Amino acid sequence: MKLWIDTDPGVDDALALLMAFADPDVELVGLGIVGGNVGLPACTANALKLCELAGRPLLPVHPGADSPLLPRQADDAAHWHGRDGFGDVGLRPARLRPAAPHAALALIEASHRHPGELHLLTLGPLTNVALALALDPGLAGRLAGWTCMGGAIGARGNTEYLAAEFNLAFDAEAAALCFARGPSLTLVDWELVLRHGLDLDEVDRWLAGETVPARFYRAISRITRDRHRGEGAGRFTPADALAMTVLLQPNAVLESVTRPVSIETAGALARGQTVVDWSRRSGRPDNARIVTVIDEGAHRRRLRRALGLHDG
Ligand code: BDR
Ligand code: CA
Repeated sequence: MKLWIDTDPGVDDALALLMAFADPDVELVGLGIVGGNVGLPACTANALKLCELAGRPLLPVHPGADSPLLPRQADDAAHWHGRDGFGDVGLRPARLRPAAPHAALALIEASHRHPGELHLLTLGPLTNVALALALDPGLAGRLAGWTCMGGAIGARGNTEYLAAEFNLAFDAEAAALCFARGPSLTLVDWELVLRHGLDLDEVDRWLAGETVPARFYRAISRITRDRHRGEGAGRFTPADALAMTVLLQPNAVLESVTRPVSIETAGALARGQTVVDWSRRSGRPDNARIVTVIDEGAHRRRLRRALGLHDG
């Protein structure tokens, strides 16, 4: 599978990227970086660090948007990921350098090089993808598919906009544009992530492994795991990693529903909400396959493989 990932690394983005690196069937074409969890420079530095760790020096890392389409003071997620986005453990910067052009242009170019073959996975705010679709609406028709981590289909959000999820609330206008003009998507929403939270004690046991990725992930995820222990009732919820399983292993999706989904841009409490037209009253076409149940065994096997652990 030829894959383009747009991401804001991010502790759970990192786990997702390790999963892609561990799958021999994935041909990573490029990474687009967007500011979200933390600012664009730190997210870019983190992506480069991961490429270095994984021995992928030639994978192009394209920085893109550093703020939402309509600039505003958006809350980042540094309290979950650390101020540097990777757990504030003082990582030495990578020697690798970011690539030009801007992530939006790079995605358009990649879609021309691989028409009908390139899968898009978005793990952060949708600003880069919205810019790309605005510049070149034909992009939607050239993609082989789009899997998106974002949204909260039952309005159980995780942001200051109570009904909205972080990635889509961070840049609600970009999300609205993408859901209106983008290709149909597979949606991995925050509530699916909550339903499939991982047992923290089990994750801690995995991370006690002495492989390179396990040691690295043990360090960068410490703040996040500690916070989950306090607020997450013993569950660890790396959202982006679940989206990666959905993309890489279609048979891990046990149940899904397809409906029209649009994005609220005006609500005072619900800005960025994924509004699902459950009874198809709007007359809009279905644009989202919403994943509702995952094979947890398949997901856990992929996580362990990404950490370099043998199954047993
Ligand atoms: C999403 O928000 C970010 O903090 C995570 O990286 C994930 O992409 C979950 O709502
Ligand atoms: Ca993310």
